[in-house]
Amino acid sequence: MSTNDIRIGIIGAGVMGTDHATLLHESVKGATVSLIADMDAPKAAALAASVGANSLEDGIALINSSDVDAVIVASADMTHRDLVLAAIQANKPVLCEKPLATTAEQARDIVLAEDTTAGAGKLVSVGFMRRFDPTCVELHDAVVAKPHGETLLVHSISRGTNSGPGSTTRSALSNSAIHEIDYLPWLVGSPIAEVTWQAARQTKNASGLQDPQLFNLISANGVVSNCELFLNARYGHDVRFEVVFEEGTMQTVEPVNTAINANQAQGTTLGTDWRRRWRTAYRIELQNWVDGIRTGSPSPAFATARDGLASLLVVDALVASSENGGALTPVTQVADYLA
Ligand SMILES: NC(=O)c1ccc[n+]([C@@H]2O[C@H](COP(=O)([O-])OP(=O)(O)OC[C@H]3O[C@@H](n4cnc5c(N)ncnc54)[C@H](O)[C@@H]3O)[C@@H](O)[C@H]2O)c1
Repeated sequence: MSTNDIRIGIIGAGVMGTDHATLLHESVKGATVSLIADMDAPKAAALAASVGANSLEDGIALINSSDVDAVIVASADMTHRDLVLAAIQANKPVLCEKPLATTAEQARDIVLAEDTTAGAGKLVSVGFMRRFDPTCVELHDAVVAKPHGETLLVHSISRGTNSGPGSTTRSALSNSAIHEIDYLPWLVGSPIAEVTWQAARQTKNASGLQDPQLFNLISANGVVSNCELFLNARYGHDVRFEVVFEEGTMQTVEPVNTAINANQAQGTTLGTDWRRRWRTAYRIELQNWVDGIRTGSPSPAFATARDGLASLLVVDALVASSENGGALTPVTQVADYLA
């Protein structure tokens, strides 16, 4: 640890908290993990010991600790609003795992609170790491530079092995598809204006939610992103995007190191753990966040609190469409919602 390091406190010692703590400790320059909070005290203590930090149970106490300069919220979705509000009140930069909150109303509380501070627009970042993934960024660069012409439409596939316990059609959108709901308007450079939703034929492997779901995100600039969300696809974690330009297409390719040749076939492995697919994105996201705190200028690639709110307003429109026979449904825009 250097004395100039940004001291990071992490709330939540689960899957994502552990991943962020480990990456910060091993791979990010200019930061030290100083404190870990989890309501499960032994879990917090074990993670803290692995990165040379201290631990406690209470997230609010972590935020207000003089040993913490900046906060990562990696606890359950329903805790995000109150913890992010406390970080704003303490005037400390906070990287909140997605989603920013569980409802648009909660996200609005965060936007309005941040607006009252001197750090308005700079304190809160949302952990939408596709914006930092090299393959996703390359697509974005091509959309901006137009080497193959204008963007006409986008195909998005997001599949996983299992939905978590208690998943619903809405929570699949607000917890999982929210990644695409944030990335796609950023990719095409235009907010989502309207949506349509459709139930695909239901898989036998899911109950309590519609799975797979199909939906179209129609951006204000006319680009349609056609999305499949299939949480119980079983075979692996498989997220892909393809952009159709006027004169060519471009698609993300799963990062691979090796190919297997056997049994008259050639192929690569597809993991079941999303952390493998997005490891580089998480590392770049964390390094950018730390660098932004140091310089006082957050990377413009970061999703702000307003972006977090925008994504939840799109979820609301998708749910409304799903309850209304898949009708074309307008999305409430952030400025209108806050007015
Ligand atoms: N960016 C991504 O790719 C990605 C992937 C998975 C999960 N997530 C998000 O990260 C967050 C954490 O997910 P996870 O998979 O690590 O969950 P997890 O259940 O593995 O861990 C959450 C931890 O938070 C602790 N916790 C809950 N409430 C708390 C509170 N009030 N104070 C202190 N600790 C508390 C729990 O004890 C648990 O240890 C969620 O918001 C989830 O949506 C993001």
